[in-house]
Amino acid sequence: MSDPVPARPTGGDLIYRQRRPVRLWHWINALSVIVMLMSGLMIFNAHPQLYWGQYGANHETPWLAIGSTGASGFLRIGAVTVPTTGVLGISHGVALAFPPLLTIPSGYDLAAARQWHFAFAWLLVIPGLLFWLWGLASRHFQHDLAPTPAELHPRHLWQDITDHARLRFHTGEAARRYNILQKLSYIGIIFGLLPAMVLTGLTMSPGMDAAWPWLLDVFGGRQSARSIHFICAALIVGFIVVHLLMVLLAGPFNELRSMITGWYRLPQEKAR
Ligand code: HEM
Repeated sequence: MSDPVPARPTGGDLIYRQRRPVRLWHWINALSVIVMLMSGLMIFNAHPQLYWGQYGANHETPWLAIGSTGASGFLRIGAVTVPTTGVLGISHGVALAFPPLLTIPSGYDLAAARQWHFAFAWLLVIPGLLFWLWGLASRHFQHDLAPTPAELHPRHLWQDITDHARLRFHTGEAARRYNILQKLSYIGIIFGLLPAMVLTGLTMSPGMDAAWPWLLDVFGGRQSARSIHFICAALIVGFIVVHLLMVLLAGPFNELRSMITGWYRLPQEKAR
Protein backbone atom coordinates (compact mmCIF):
# COMPACT_ATOMS: atom_id res chain seq x y z
CA MET A 1 0.00 0.00 0.00
CA SER A 2 1.87 3.08 -1.19
CA ASP A 3 1.01 6.46 -2.47
CA PRO A 4 1.10 7.68 -6.12
CA VAL A 5 -2.58 8.59 -5.57
CA PRO A 6 -4.76 11.68 -5.41
CA ALA A 7 -4.22 13.60 -2.13
CA ARG A 8 -7.70 12.71 -0.87
CA PRO A 9 -9.07 9.86 -2.93
CA THR A 10 -12.78 9.31 -2.98
CA GLY A 11 -15.04 6.46 -4.03
CA GLY A 12 -14.38 5.47 -7.66
CA ASP A 13 -10.68 6.52 -7.73
CA LEU A 14 -8.07 4.00 -8.78
CA ILE A 15 -5.30 3.89 -6.16
CA TYR A 16 -2.01 1.99 -5.92
CA ARG A 17 -2.75 -0.27 -2.95
CA GLN A 18 -0.40 -3.28 -3.03
CA ARG A 19 3.34 -2.88 -3.47
CA ARG A 20 5.27 -5.36 -5.62
CA PRO A 21 7.01 -7.29 -2.78
CA VAL A 22 3.63 -7.84 -1.07
CA ARG A 23 2.11 -9.19 -4.30
CA LEU A 24 5.12 -11.35 -5.09
CA TRP A 25 5.25 -12.84 -1.57
CA HIS A 26 1.48 -13.28 -1.49
CA TRP A 27 1.26 -15.46 -4.59
CA ILE A 28 4.42 -17.48 -3.85
CA ASN A 29 3.07 -18.02 -0.33
CA ALA A 30 -0.42 -18.98 -1.55
CA LEU A 31 1.11 -21.61 -3.88
CA SER A 32 3.48 -23.02 -1.27
CA VAL A 33 0.80 -23.09 1.48
CA ILE A 34 -1.63 -24.99 -0.75
CA VAL A 35 0.99 -27.57 -1.81
CA MET A 36 2.19 -27.90 1.82
CA LEU A 37 -1.40 -28.47 2.99
CA MET A 38 -2.19 -31.08 0.34
CA SER A 39 1.09 -33.00 0.70
CA GLY A 40 0.74 -32.71 4.51
CA LEU A 41 -2.64 -34.45 4.34
CA MET A 42 -1.02 -37.36 2.47
CA ILE A 43 1.73 -37.59 5.11
CA PHE A 44 -1.02 -37.60 7.78
CA ASN A 45 -2.73 -40.44 5.90
CA ALA A 46 0.26 -42.67 6.70
CA HIS A 47 -0.68 -42.53 10.41
CA PRO A 48 -4.04 -40.77 10.81
CA GLN A 49 -3.92 -40.38 14.59
CA LEU A 50 -2.68 -37.56 16.81
CA TYR A 51 -1.28 -37.72 20.35
CA TRP A 52 0.02 -35.38 23.05
CA GLY A 53 3.47 -35.76 24.60
CA GLN A 54 6.64 -37.45 23.47
CA TYR A 55 5.50 -40.87 22.28
CA GLY A 56 2.76 -41.98 19.90
CA ALA A 57 1.22 -45.35 19.05
CA ASN A 58 1.61 -48.15 21.67
CA HIS A 59 2.13 -45.55 24.43
CA GLU A 60 -0.74 -43.08 24.32
CA THR A 61 -4.40 -43.00 23.31
CA PRO A 62 -4.87 -40.71 20.29
CA TRP A 63 -6.91 -37.55 20.95
CA LEU A 64 -7.86 -37.49 17.26
CA ALA A 65 -8.25 -40.39 14.84
CA ILE A 66 -9.63 -40.73 11.33
CA GLY A 67 -10.26 -44.23 10.01
CA SER A 68 -12.69 -46.81 8.75
CA THR A 69 -14.37 -49.99 9.96
CA GLY A 70 -15.64 -52.06 7.06
CA ALA A 71 -17.34 -49.66 4.64
CA SER A 72 -17.88 -46.86 7.23
CA GLY A 73 -15.55 -43.93 7.78
CA PHE A 74 -15.26 -42.06 11.09
CA LEU A 75 -13.62 -39.07 12.77
CA ARG A 76 -13.01 -39.47 16.50
CA ILE A 77 -12.05 -36.52 18.69
CA GLY A 78 -11.69 -37.53 22.36
CA ALA A 79 -14.78 -39.55 23.25
CA VAL A 80 -16.88 -38.20 20.36
CA THR A 81 -17.13 -40.23 17.13
CA VAL A 82 -18.68 -38.72 14.01
CA PRO A 83 -19.60 -40.84 10.94
CA THR A 84 -17.75 -39.45 7.90
CA THR A 85 -18.29 -42.17 5.25
CA GLY A 86 -17.64 -40.81 1.75
CA VAL A 87 -15.61 -37.84 3.02
CA LEU A 88 -13.05 -38.94 5.65
CA GLY A 89 -11.82 -42.46 6.41
CA ILE A 90 -13.24 -44.02 3.27
CA SER A 91 -14.47 -42.50 0.00
CA HIS A 92 -15.20 -44.11 -3.38
CA GLY A 93 -14.16 -47.43 -1.86
CA VAL A 94 -10.64 -46.12 -0.99
CA ALA A 95 -9.79 -46.45 2.71
CA LEU A 96 -7.70 -43.32 3.35
CA ALA A 97 -8.14 -40.68 6.08
CA PHE A 98 -8.18 -37.76 3.61
CA PRO A 99 -9.57 -38.51 0.13
CA PRO A 100 -7.36 -38.51 -3.03
CA LEU A 101 -8.96 -35.22 -4.21
CA LEU A 102 -7.39 -33.34 -1.29
CA THR A 103 -3.90 -34.84 -1.30
CA ILE A 104 -0.62 -34.57 -3.22
CA PRO A 105 0.01 -37.05 -4.72
CA SER A 106 -3.55 -38.31 -5.12
CA GLY A 107 -2.63 -42.02 -4.81
CA TYR A 108 -1.17 -43.26 -1.53
CA ASP A 109 2.57 -42.47 -1.60
CA LEU A 110 4.23 -41.34 1.61
CA ALA A 111 7.72 -40.95 0.11
CA ALA A 112 6.51 -38.68 -2.73
CA ALA A 113 4.35 -36.62 -0.33
CA ARG A 114 7.38 -36.00 1.90
CA GLN A 115 9.43 -34.89 -1.13
CA TRP A 116 6.69 -32.39 -2.15
CA HIS A 117 6.37 -31.19 1.45
CA PHE A 118 10.09 -30.60 2.02
CA ALA A 119 10.67 -29.04 -1.44
CA PHE A 120 7.85 -26.51 -0.99
CA ALA A 121 8.92 -25.80 2.61
CA TRP A 122 11.87 -23.87 1.09
CA LEU A 123 9.41 -21.83 -0.98
CA LEU A 124 7.47 -21.06 2.18
CA VAL A 125 10.41 -20.24 4.45
CA ILE A 126 12.85 -18.27 2.24
CA PRO A 127 10.26 -15.84 0.72
CA GLY A 128 8.65 -15.65 4.18
CA LEU A 129 11.91 -14.53 5.84
CA LEU A 130 12.60 -12.04 3.01
CA PHE A 131 9.04 -10.68 3.36
CA TRP A 132 9.55 -10.24 7.11
CA LEU A 133 12.78 -8.29 6.50
CA TRP A 134 11.23 -6.17 3.75
CA GLY A 135 8.02 -5.61 5.74
CA LEU A 136 9.99 -4.25 8.70
CA ALA A 137 12.49 -2.22 6.63
CA SER A 138 9.82 -0.68 4.37
CA ARG A 139 7.49 -0.13 7.39
CA HIS A 140 4.74 -2.10 5.59
CA PHE A 141 4.01 -3.98 8.83
CA GLN A 142 4.09 -0.86 11.01
CA HIS A 143 2.16 1.30 8.54
CA ASP A 144 -0.35 -1.08 6.90
CA LEU A 145 -0.84 -3.97 9.34
CA ALA A 146 -0.34 -2.62 12.88
CA PRO A 147 -3.72 -1.72 14.42
CA THR A 148 -4.09 1.79 15.85
CA PRO A 149 -5.27 2.16 19.49
CA ALA A 150 -8.57 3.60 18.18
CA GLU A 151 -9.15 0.52 16.01
CA LEU A 152 -8.59 -1.76 19.01
CA HIS A 153 -11.27 -0.02 21.06
CA PRO A 154 -14.00 -2.61 21.80
CA ARG A 155 -16.66 -0.30 20.33
CA HIS A 156 -14.76 0.02 17.03
CA LEU A 157 -14.07 -3.73 16.94
CA TRP A 158 -17.74 -4.54 17.54
CA GLN A 159 -18.79 -2.02 14.85
CA ASP A 160 -16.47 -3.71 12.33
CA ILE A 161 -17.73 -7.19 13.25
CA THR A 162 -21.37 -6.17 12.82
CA ASP A 163 -20.55 -4.32 9.57
CA HIS A 164 -18.91 -7.48 8.23
CA ALA A 165 -21.85 -9.63 9.35
CA ARG A 166 -24.15 -7.29 7.38
CA LEU A 167 -21.71 -7.34 4.43
CA ARG A 168 -21.11 -3.59 4.72
CA PHE A 169 -17.50 -3.11 3.66
CA HIS A 170 -15.50 0.12 3.89
CA THR A 171 -15.93 2.57 1.03
CA GLY A 172 -14.26 5.81 -0.14
CA GLU A 173 -11.23 7.06 1.82
CA ALA A 174 -11.67 4.39 4.56
CA ALA A 175 -11.20 1.63 1.96
CA ARG A 176 -7.60 2.77 1.30
CA ARG A 177 -6.50 0.83 4.37
CA TYR A 178 -7.15 -2.68 5.64
CA ASN A 179 -9.95 -2.81 8.19
CA ILE A 180 -9.17 -4.00 11.72
CA LEU A 181 -10.43 -7.57 11.14
CA GLN A 182 -8.16 -7.88 8.08
CA LYS A 183 -5.22 -6.45 10.05
CA LEU A 184 -5.71 -8.88 12.94
CA SER A 185 -6.14 -11.93 10.70
CA TYR A 186 -3.14 -11.02 8.49
CA ILE A 187 -0.96 -10.43 11.59
CA GLY A 188 -2.17 -13.78 12.96
CA ILE A 189 -1.13 -15.53 9.74
CA ILE A 190 2.21 -13.75 9.16
CA PHE A 191 3.46 -13.69 12.76
CA GLY A 192 1.46 -16.53 14.35
CA LEU A 193 0.29 -19.47 12.27
CA LEU A 194 2.98 -19.55 9.54
CA PRO A 195 5.93 -19.35 12.00
CA ALA A 196 4.21 -21.91 14.28
CA MET A 197 3.86 -24.28 11.31
CA VAL A 198 7.56 -23.94 10.47
CA LEU A 199 8.77 -24.33 14.08
CA THR A 200 6.56 -27.36 14.84
CA GLY A 201 7.64 -28.85 11.49
CA LEU A 202 11.31 -28.42 12.47
CA THR A 203 10.54 -30.00 15.88
CA MET A 204 9.44 -33.21 14.11
CA SER A 205 12.76 -33.48 12.25
CA PRO A 206 15.30 -35.73 14.04
CA GLY A 207 18.18 -33.69 12.58
CA MET A 208 16.79 -30.45 14.00
CA ASP A 209 16.14 -32.11 17.37
CA ALA A 210 19.85 -32.89 17.57
CA ALA A 211 20.83 -29.33 16.60
CA TRP A 212 18.14 -27.48 18.60
CA PRO A 213 16.92 -29.81 21.41
CA TRP A 214 15.09 -26.87 23.06
CA LEU A 215 12.44 -27.11 20.31
CA LEU A 216 11.13 -30.34 21.91
CA ASP A 217 10.84 -28.57 25.28
CA VAL A 218 9.04 -25.57 23.78
CA PHE A 219 6.32 -27.73 22.17
CA GLY A 220 6.19 -30.49 24.82
CA GLY A 221 7.52 -33.39 22.74
CA ARG A 222 7.41 -34.61 19.17
CA GLN A 223 3.80 -35.86 19.27
CA SER A 224 2.59 -32.56 20.74
CA ALA A 225 4.49 -30.72 18.00
CA ARG A 226 2.72 -32.92 15.41
CA SER A 227 -0.68 -32.17 16.99
CA ILE A 228 0.02 -28.40 17.08
CA HIS A 229 1.25 -28.61 13.45
CA PHE A 230 -2.07 -30.20 12.46
CA ILE A 231 -4.20 -27.72 14.49
CA CYS A 232 -2.34 -24.73 12.93
CA ALA A 233 -2.89 -26.27 9.47
CA ALA A 234 -6.63 -26.55 10.23
CA LEU A 235 -6.69 -22.89 11.35
CA ILE A 236 -4.92 -21.86 8.12
CA VAL A 237 -7.58 -23.76 6.13
CA GLY A 238 -10.23 -21.84 8.12
CA PHE A 239 -8.45 -18.56 7.30
CA ILE A 240 -8.27 -19.42 3.57
CA VAL A 241 -12.00 -20.25 3.44
CA VAL A 242 -12.98 -16.93 5.08
CA HIS A 243 -10.30 -15.01 3.09
CA LEU A 244 -11.64 -16.30 -0.24
CA LEU A 245 -15.24 -15.68 0.82
CA MET A 246 -14.37 -12.06 1.68
CA VAL A 247 -12.58 -11.60 -1.68
CA LEU A 248 -15.71 -12.90 -3.44
CA LEU A 249 -18.08 -10.71 -1.40
CA ALA A 250 -15.94 -7.55 -1.61
CA GLY A 251 -15.70 -7.75 -5.43
CA PRO A 252 -13.35 -10.42 -6.82
CA PHE A 253 -12.30 -8.48 -9.95
CA ASN A 254 -11.19 -5.38 -8.05
CA GLU A 255 -9.60 -7.42 -5.21
CA LEU A 256 -7.68 -9.71 -7.57
CA ARG A 257 -6.56 -6.80 -9.76
CA SER A 258 -5.09 -5.12 -6.67
CA MET A 259 -3.20 -8.28 -5.64
CA ILE A 260 -1.96 -8.84 -9.23
CA THR A 261 -1.26 -5.30 -10.53
CA GLY A 262 -1.34 -3.26 -7.31
CA TRP A 263 -4.21 -1.03 -8.51
CA TYR A 264 -7.48 -0.97 -6.59
CA ARG A 265 -10.66 1.00 -7.29
CA LEU A 266 -12.03 2.54 -4.09
CA PRO A 267 -15.64 1.41 -3.70
CA GLN A 268 -18.22 4.20 -4.00
CA GLU A 269 -19.81 5.49 -0.80
CA LYS A 270 -23.23 3.92 -0.28
CA ALA A 271 -26.13 5.54 1.52
CA ARG A 272 -26.33 3.73 4.92
C1 HEM B 1 -5.29 -18.68 -3.46
C2 HEM B 1 -6.21 -17.83 -3.26
C3 HEM B 1 -6.02 -16.46 -2.63
C4 HEM B 1 -6.57 -15.30 -3.10
C5 HEM B 1 -7.48 -15.15 -4.34
C6 HEM B 1 -6.17 -14.23 -2.22
C7 HEM B 1 -6.50 -12.89 -2.36
C8 HEM B 1 -6.05 -11.84 -1.59
C9 HEM B 1 -6.34 -10.43 -1.81
C10 HEM B 1 -7.23 -9.89 -2.93
C11 HEM B 1 -5.72 -9.72 -0.83
C12 HEM B 1 -5.77 -8.20 -0.66
C13 HEM B 1 -6.94 -7.86 0.24
C14 HEM B 1 -7.21 -6.37 0.23
O1 HEM B 1 -6.43 -5.60 -0.35
O2 HEM B 1 -8.22 -5.96 0.83
C15 HEM B 1 -4.98 -10.64 0.00
C16 HEM B 1 -4.15 -10.30 1.08
C17 HEM B 1 -3.52 -11.21 1.90
N1 HEM B 1 -3.59 -12.59 1.81
FE1 HEM B 1 -4.50 -13.67 0.30
N2 HEM B 1 -5.39 -14.77 -1.22
C18 HEM B 1 -5.26 -16.11 -1.43
C19 HEM B 1 -4.55 -17.02 -0.63
C20 HEM B 1 -3.89 -16.69 0.54
C21 HEM B 1 -3.20 -17.64 1.39
C22 HEM B 1 -3.12 -19.15 1.15
C23 HEM B 1 -2.68 -16.92 2.43
C24 HEM B 1 -1.88 -17.40 3.61
C25 HEM B 1 -2.03 -18.55 4.20
C26 HEM B 1 -3.02 -15.52 2.23
C27 HEM B 1 -2.65 -14.49 3.07
C28 HEM B 1 -2.85 -13.14 2.82
C29 HEM B 1 -2.26 -12.08 3.62
C30 HEM B 1 -1.37 -12.26 4.87
C31 HEM B 1 -2.64 -10.87 3.02
C32 HEM B 1 -2.20 -9.46 3.45
C33 HEM B 1 -0.80 -9.20 2.83
C34 HEM B 1 -0.14 -7.91 3.30
O3 HEM B 1 -0.65 -6.82 3.00
O4 HEM B 1 0.94 -7.99 3.92
N3 HEM B 1 -3.75 -15.42 1.07
N4 HEM B 1 -5.21 -11.93 -0.48
